[in-house]
Amino acid sequence: MDELVLSGDYLPPRLLYRENELTRLLDSLSESLSGEKKLVALFGLSGVGKSTLAKAACRLFSIGLRRNRLNNGFVHISCYSARTVNALFSQILKFLSPYSTTKGLPTEQIVKSVDSKAIEQNLSFTVVLDDFHALKSDVASDFFAHFTTGKVRLRPFNFVVISHEKNITLHKKRLKLELIECAPYTAEQVAQIIADRVERAFNKGVVPQEVVERVTKLGKEGDIRFKLELLRRAGRIAEQKKADSLTLEHIEEALANMVDSHILEHLPTLEEHELLLLYSICRSIRSSKQGFAIIGEVEREYAEVCSRLSIQPRKHTQVWEYLQKLKKLEIVLTRISGKGQRGKTTVISLNGASLDSTITEVIKEIRRRGLSRSERSNTS
Ligand SMILES: Nc1ncnc2c1ncn2[C@@H]1O[C@H](COP(=O)(O)OP(=O)(O)OP(=O)(O)O)[C@@H](O)[C@H]1O
Ligand SMILES: [Mg+2]
Repeated sequence: MDELVLSGDYLPPRLLYRENELTRLLDSLSESLSGEKKLVALFGLSGVGKSTLAKAACRLFSIGLRRNRLNNGFVHISCYSARTVNALFSQILKFLSPYSTTKGLPTEQIVKSVDSKAIEQNLSFTVVLDDFHALKSDVASDFFAHFTTGKVRLRPFNFVVISHEKNITLHKKRLKLELIECAPYTAEQVAQIIADRVERAFNKGVVPQEVVERVTKLGKEGDIRFKLELLRRAGRIAEQKKADSLTLEHIEEALANMVDSHILEHLPTLEEHELLLLYSICRSIRSSKQGFAIIGEVEREYAEVCSRLSIQPRKHTQVWEYLQKLKKLEIVLTRISGKGQRGKTTVISLNGASLDSTITEVIKEIRRRGLSRSERSNTS
């Protein structure tokens, strides 16, 4: 098995069923050469190929320009890790000047360096703000204001923002916004994408058709990332067992230990109290034995968890905001209770991930941050 081909970093040679979106994105990027200040927004659900599409388009665009002796590059920034204007410009500067350090520098100084480095290198480039929905709107508009008010002189430049949401709000509307939707794949398209990747990653005949079909059906329908990660883990299990082929049992074994890959991706980016709230949600769901928990219980649990860890709990309104964030990240689902509960209350559940493996991963993250050495996955 070629693990790299199944990993999130792999850029497939061809993005199936995304030719139209790729052409539109490339056209949009090219239009900026005439000096138009433009922002392209790619939006769609998790795992439908937005980040991959942006990387493929930026790479093709850069190659095309370099052939014409135009100095061009792109910087791909995750807004989960860069949440402030300072952090965004620091990442751009790192791209322009990999050995410069920005720690402790005021934003305006970093912006100045970005400006002078880009001019010095006579470079135009595309800034991709991935997971744009994670950025607070005032941070986003402050960031763009640096370009639209001339503080940064780059010409021509491009912005691509990638979001789960269609509503891209920009307070300073000096950039023309173009929306490109990455619609969910049909079941047949998902099957074809998985089959294509299996062919690239495994030797012929190693993965029987029934296994491909099973993997295609597992996880959320359009989430290709989850299915590829499942294949990668099952492939590892098969290799460890020195099996000649990948079987349904390998898939089931891999599945039992799998947390939704997007939870794994988001855990390190959660703020401390968001993480503690998620932990409290998991614990409340576990003790309710019903697959969900109600907000009152979660808040009680959260207060207890904080007290055990000697951390000051946040107020109700703040906790509510953390919950909205976890919901926005598609880690939890919420609904208003119906029959069976007294009065109306918010009911919280995990968004499809296994409870046990989520708790294990959340505890690992809590311990990794040094918040606690004593929390164990079997604590009831
Ligand atoms: N059309 C496609 N052809 C081949 N592979 C694809 C296609 N669409 C998605 N993939 C694969 O699916 C995985 C998920 O894609 P990607 O990370 O780009 O999704 P995303 O929309 O950015 O998700 P998220 O919103 O969660 O960040 C990647 O491994 C990617 O290679
Ligand atoms: Mg992405």
